[in-house]
Amino acid sequence: MGLTALDDVSFNVREGEVHAVIGPNGAGKTTLFNIISGVQVPTSGSVSLRSVGDLSKVPLNQRPSIGMMRTFQNIRLFGTMTALENVLLGATCRSNGSVLSRAFGFPKARASERDAVAEAYRLLERVGLAEAALTPAHSLSYGAQRRLEIARALAATPRILMLDEPAAGMNDGERHTLADLISSLQMDGITILIVEHDMPFINRLSDQITVLNFGKLIASGTPEVVCRHPTVIEAYLGSEYAEAQHA
Ligand SMILES: Nc1ncnc2c1ncn2[C@@H]1O[C@H](COP(=O)(O)OP(=O)(O)OP(=O)(O)O)[C@@H](O)[C@H]1O
Ligand SMILES: [Mg+2]
Repeated sequence: MGLTALDDVSFNVREGEVHAVIGPNGAGKTTLFNIISGVQVPTSGSVSLRSVGDLSKVPLNQRPSIGMMRTFQNIRLFGTMTALENVLLGATCRSNGSVLSRAFGFPKARASERDAVAEAYRLLERVGLAEAALTPAHSLSYGAQRRLEIARALAATPRILMLDEPAAGMNDGERHTLADLISSLQMDGITILIVEHDMPFINRLSDQITVLNFGKLIASGTPEVVCRHPTVIEAYLGSEYAEAQHA
């Protein structure tokens, strides 16, 4: 019997909200994202999406078509490809596969390719990377790579976007810009699930927070409720944080 990474975790995410998942290192946050996004299969339990039902019946490669996209804690870009090419790949996740017509250079396909490139540039601009469009992904700063992963996910026009520690390795200015970007995505109607350790960042953005500790859900609610929760303060936030909040 291996380690139980998640145990009896149950919560709801409402359409259109920013829902954070927080907790100490090793609490199971990434495992939870892996299960919701279909990367890992739970030994029991289920994940369901109102419009689709039980997601265990939706294979990983069909997740983009139900509008679910994610980024990874350990960045997964194609390093030698340019930023633009990485975003274009995100778009192909959801396209209906006109690969053959592209290969034969049919005019309609060429037009759709031009549209795709224009859209990719628009997304790069949205994440502040327009000028890096032709730069190989591995040459970008860590923070820029994280923003590129978001642009790539957005290229598949998600309705649900899952971000695993998107602010990690970013400086204050980058974090601020990222928070503005996430707010604007919410305004566009995208439901956002986010794992982050930066509490001011999380409190500013989140409608709801779910807290994990050792694979168990220890609290769930608004930032105000969760940040005053004694178990959350004990397990994660620390009494100094709580006192500073209410000073
Ligand atoms: N591939 C793996 N094989 C074995 N154990 C793993 C693996 N991945 C994660 N774990 C274990 O599962 C538990 C949950 O890990 P998980 O990565 O989900 O935590 P996390 O909350 O995302 O942590 P962090 O804040 O460090 O990213 C931890 O005890 C971890 O050591
Ligand atoms: Mg993690």
